[in-house]
Order: sequence, then C-alpha cells, then structure tokens
Amino acid sequence: MAFPFPDPLMAIPHRRDVPFSRLTTLGVGGCCRWLFEPVTEAQAQAFVRACAREGLPWRTLGGGSNLVVLGDLEGPVLRLRLPQELKRDGLELQASASHGHIRLSAATAELGLAGMEYASGIPGSVGGAMHMNAGAYGRELVDILARYRFLTEDGELVEKVPEPGEFRYRWSVLGGGRVALGLTLRLAAGDPARIRALVEEYRRKRGTSQPLGKRNAGCIFKNPPGLSAGRLIDQAGLKGLRVGDAEVSPEHGNFLVNHGQATAAQFAELMARVRAKVREVHGVDLEPEVEIWAAPEQIIR
Ligand code: EPU
Repeated sequence: MAFPFPDPLMAIPHRRDVPFSRLTTLGVGGCCRWLFEPVTEAQAQAFVRACAREGLPWRTLGGGSNLVVLGDLEGPVLRLRLPQELKRDGLELQASASHGHIRLSAATAELGLAGMEYASGIPGSVGGAMHMNAGAYGRELVDILARYRFLTEDGELVEKVPEPGEFRYRWSVLGGGRVALGLTLRLAAGDPARIRALVEEYRRKRGTSQPLGKRNAGCIFKNPPGLSAGRLIDQAGLKGLRVGDAEVSPEHGNFLVNHGQATAAQFAELMARVRAKVREVHGVDLEPEVEIWAAPEQIIR
C-alpha cells in the first residue's frame, strides 16, 4: 500500500493507530492504522474520490456494533463525524448517518412520531442501520424510509427514494464501497403514551432474551429463511461454549459475548466451531450477519 497517502486524503481529519477494541461494541480486533473522520459531506466526498482515484481499498465504520474485526487493518477506514441535528418537516424527520440510531428512535418517540419504536434497542449509527437495513420485531428501516443520501463508490452524491430490492433482510445497496450520508424518515402521528408503551414492551422482551449487560455485536448469524439461527445454535447444544473469554451466550444462542479479555482469534475460532456444529447437527450453513473485517490470513471458512 502507498504511504504516505496523497494530500487530499491527509487533509481530512484523521487519527493513527486506534485500537478496534475502542471502536467496536464487541471490543476485540487489532489496530486501525488510519482512521479518517470527515466532519462534512464535502470531506467525506473528498475521501471517497481520493481513494477511488488512487485505487486504495478502504472501509466504512459506523458505530461498530455489528462488526467483528480480526487483526490489524492497514488500509484507510472512514468514520463520519457529521453534524447530528435533526430537521423535522411535519411527519418527516431528517438525520445524518452519524446520528445515534437509538437516540433517533428516542427522538421520534419524544416528538410523538410513531413507527420507529422497533429500533429503540438497536445500537450503532444511523449510517450503519441504513447499511444493514436494521430491524427487529417484524419491522425494518426501509418501512419508514422516505429518502436516503449516499456517496457512490466514485464519490458522487445521490439522494433518492428507496426502490424495491434496494433494502432487504439485513442487506442494502449501500455495501460495496457506497457510503450512507443520511436519511429522511416518514413517520405517523402517534399517541406518546402508546409509543412509550410499545418501546417499554420491546425493552422488556429484549431484556429477557438477549445478553444486554455483556459486550456483544448483536446477532452473529442471519436467520436462514423460515428458521431461527439462535434456536438452531441452542438445539445444537452450543450455549455456553467458550473459547477463552469468548462465549456463546447462555441467554441467546445467536449472541457471542466477550467476558472481558477475549481476542479476535478466539471469536474467529468460536464462530467457526458454531458454524461447523450447526452444519453437522442441522445440515444448515449459517451466514454471518455481522460484518467481518479480516486481514487475509484470518478469514473464517
Ligand atoms: N430461541 C431459542 N433459543 C435461543 C434463542 C432463540 O430457542 O437461544 C427461539 C426463541 O424462543 C424464539 C425464536 O428462537 O422462539 C426467535 O428468537 P428471538 O425472538 O430472540 O428472535 P431472533 O430471530 O433470534 C431476531 C433478530 C434480532 C432481533 C429479534 C427481535 C436476526 C438474526 N435477529 O432474532 O436482531 O432483535 O429478532 O425481533 O434477524 C440483530 O440483528 O443483531 C438482532 C439481534
């Protein structure tokens, strides 16, 4: 890789050698050698254009809540630091990709806007939620998405209405080098008491089924069509399986937790063992739901 990076990149606010343990909720991973943190859309655009021009492979980090990093990463990593104010226009609400996802859900509730209650416990950034089409309890972001803004892989800024196929189960068109910049939600007029009651009901459900007190990255594997990955892992007897400080949560089979000192290698090993056992017991190949960033020698098979 070419070092130092070209001037247009170096002009963007950046930090060196930031541990991924501080950038992800799971708290593992090596070093992020180059973390670029644009504070404006124009800087984000300059980043993507410079990388595209130089042919530099790079990645986008959101809130780090759905990410397992294995080892050190030498390439540039983009983390947006865009302004976080919300703009309301009737039943529509506009937010930047840097806004906290849970905070956005809480803000809609406070404004008496209904429709985003499902997201009240989904951590990460709005950009990450767009990238993954985050969802829970039968609802997902695309259900309330009026418009979204992003940069193409060449750095062109696009704002558009979502079209069928652009957002699916835990997947969106915003992968493959595109960068989510922000969104406009279309919500419904709601009764604040009913919204609060729904948020409370979801909080209770999550509290009884998910290991919220431990470092985790949410669900690790996607649910195969018509099946529950958590139940498959549970039925395969894997709850409590441990590699060092990495453990299959005894509360929910599809959550892996870090008891404190787990390493990236331990998570890689635990994920591989879970996949192998589920394949053996159920004949089902689980597909990771979390994003995995790995140096080539650490890719999980
Ligand atoms: N189950 C078990 N054992 C387990 C876990 C679950 O038997 O260890 C059973 C449950 O009893 C239930 C079924 O499996 O009958 C489904 O479990 P749950 O309601 O917990 O939902 P899930 O399918 O495991 C999905 C999402 C979650 C989301 C919840 C609630 C995926 C991969 N997971 O979990 O999203 O919070 O529904 O809507 O789609 C995430 O994406 O990171 C995530 C946590």
